[in-house]
Amino acid sequence: MLILTVESSCDETSAAVIEDGRRILSNSVASQIPVHRRYGGVVPEIASRNHIRDIHGVVDRALNEAGVELTDIDGVGVTEGPGLVGSLLVGLETAKGIAYAADLPCVGLNHIEGHLTTVLMDLEDVDVPDFPYVGLVASGGHSDLFLVEDVGEYRRLGETRDDAAGEAFDKVSKMMGLGYPGGVEIDKRAANGDPEAVDFPRPMWTRENFDVSFAGLKTAVYQYLDAEGVPDDEQGIADVCASFQQAVVDVLVFKTVEAAKECGVDRIVVSGGVAANSRLRRDMREAADSEGMRLSVAPPRLCTDNAAMLGPIAHHYLERSSGRFEGHRLQPRCNVRLGAPS
Ligand code: KG4
Ligand code: ZN
Repeated sequence: MLILTVESSCDETSAAVIEDGRRILSNSVASQIPVHRRYGGVVPEIASRNHIRDIHGVVDRALNEAGVELTDIDGVGVTEGPGLVGSLLVGLETAKGIAYAADLPCVGLNHIEGHLTTVLMDLEDVDVPDFPYVGLVASGGHSDLFLVEDVGEYRRLGETRDDAAGEAFDKVSKMMGLGYPGGVEIDKRAANGDPEAVDFPRPMWTRENFDVSFAGLKTAVYQYLDAEGVPDDEQGIADVCASFQQAVVDVLVFKTVEAAKECGVDRIVVSGGVAANSRLRRDMREAADSEGMRLSVAPPRLCTDNAAMLGPIAHHYLERSSGRFEGHRLQPRCNVRLGAPS
């Protein structure tokens, strides 16, 4: 089955062609990072306008790079939420229009479910996990832990009580004047820093639940910078970055491993934009090895938003669809949640 997937939930406009839900034939991504950088974060209205400008070129490129025509495509999958309503609308209406014109089935997909199942595709150097697995989705808007029993069968184990991990990276970077997106900037500088230089708190360090919280850590960094001033040398900046990053990573690794133990599961999956973080990848690998657990993390280019990550779920839901176009009713679902809380 050849599937066209479309993703536009935030500030990346993306389309991909996927074969049998496992093989990526193309993955075209137009990033708006340079547009939003000057504002220090995503401006929703500007994001929508740029999606409109880019989407047709992105879809054309995805088809061309895969070497296929629209007539070869068997179905369309598109993100319907969660995300920014104006951004979602552009991808959804485009996908619906294409599917209607070509008389193809069109399924609406959950962005978080896409992150959670990216590693089910055939990817170089990635161990495809067996079910069940515990999956951490750490992105700009989410820090969620799920028990994944199968595609479509999820139990929410925990989530953030306030800010997501990526949000904390972005705001700490902004406080230090390092630029957007903050995760990449902090990751880069932290490589030369001492993670023990500043003793930032590890919020919610408890086995009682699998929720996390990063708003207080953000405030702790703010108060530190307020008292000490933003360091005026590269080493000082690197030390604060490394110390903050280590606090986030320690919490995410601890909660993920504890959740897997609690569920009696020895497979861990880490995904979402923050999964591109080099320290998180390293420390999660070490923790998994020492606990005898197997870890799957997508390559960094598939951790941040892209349409290829929708491949496994698009395939799953299209296989269960009528095979006809029934997408008229699809609309943005900004706050849609995955998996009932346990
Ligand atoms: O999944 P994603 O592309 O979009 C959302 O669904 O939110 O995640 C974006 C988030 C941003 O907050 C960004 O700062 C963070 O992922 N991020 C990183 C890294 N690369 C991206 N955070 C830490 N380290 C990185 N290397
Ligand atoms: Zn995402």
